[in-house]
Amino acid sequence: MYIVFLFLLVKTLFLNIYFPSFYISLLSLPFSTHSQYQLHSTVTSMADLSPRTVLVTGSGGRTGQIVYKKLKERPNLYVTRGLVRTEESKQKIGGANDVFVGDIRDAESITPAFQGIDALIILTSAVPQMKPGFDPTKGGRPEFYFDDGAYPEQVDWIGQKNQIEAAKAAGVKHVVLIGSMGGTNTNHPLNSLGNGNILIWKRKAEQYLADSGLTYTIIRPGGLLDKEGGIRELIVGKDDELLQTETKTIPRADVAEVCIQALNFEVKFKAFDLASKPEGVGTPTKDFKALFSNITARF
Ligand SMILES: NC(=O)c1ccc[n+]([C@@H]2O[C@H](COP(=O)([O-])OP(=O)(O)OC[C@H]3O[C@@H](n4cnc5c(N)ncnc54)[C@H](OP(=O)(O)O)[C@@H]3O)[C@@H](O)[C@H]2O)c1
Repeated sequence: MYIVFLFLLVKTLFLNIYFPSFYISLLSLPFSTHSQYQLHSTVTSMADLSPRTVLVTGSGGRTGQIVYKKLKERPNLYVTRGLVRTEESKQKIGGANDVFVGDIRDAESITPAFQGIDALIILTSAVPQMKPGFDPTKGGRPEFYFDDGAYPEQVDWIGQKNQIEAAKAAGVKHVVLIGSMGGTNTNHPLNSLGNGNILIWKRKAEQYLADSGLTYTIIRPGGLLDKEGGIRELIVGKDDELLQTETKTIPRADVAEVCIQALNFEVKFKAFDLASKPEGVGTPTKDFKALFSNITARF
């Protein structure tokens, strides 16, 4: 019993805390403290106030379900849809009729969810599994693997590509894609996790979206935390520069809010890294328009 508890505890810690910090701790990227961000973003305020239909994919996931819930709390602005992989995930988020079941690796299975939507938020990702047999009492690091057919190549590349194509076919007006910090370094240690090259495939999907002709926002968060949102100062950056600083993590709830605000303020043709200052440091971000005005990069 004790061993099972310890195993579950360590698994949770690794996936929620260690995994993100692993994302960010071993990078050696050049960092310029003199980067001057030009303020020429195409951020505009929302002109059309009629509710937009927004599909959140990966809406049974840890960030996806927060986005789904937040959108539903703003019915005057959004008509919400979710896409989940299994009936079980659908039930987990309430089982409403606006949740579609489909597998992003199978283009046909996701088409119905895309019919008639105005905007898309992509929060799907391959999920590494911990190999059994890891004994936390003996120290060392657990090993991870991906299920057959659910490697990052299939989920983060083919799956995201299928969604981008479905969005094109459906005439979607804005796509928000959640990628990841760390993608500028092809030798990032996370790429060896389960031999999945996860950051390489994520980056490839980001590039595919940027080249697609669709209106897009690419958000690349640092390590994700299951902490309260709305109480930290958020920071945007580019080219993984934030990974060389102390501010390289962010609560999932804050990422979720930024996804929605990117639609709200129509952050178009922009890509940015996203992190937060520690709780109690700085001023909690409330003015998202000001935050977005610091974004300079198209990719
Ligand atoms: N963990 C970090 O520190 C970190 C850092 C930077 C960026 N990110 C990125 O941020 C995003 C959100 O992360 P998260 O940890 O909140 O996500 P998550 O909980 O791992 O959720 C991923 C979702 O993708 C879904 N999915 C996987 N394969 C699918 C398929 N073939 N068809 C349809 N859905 C599929 C999963 O559905 P099932 O539950 O049904 O499998 C799950 O709901 C991800 O893109 C992640 O890579 C994470």
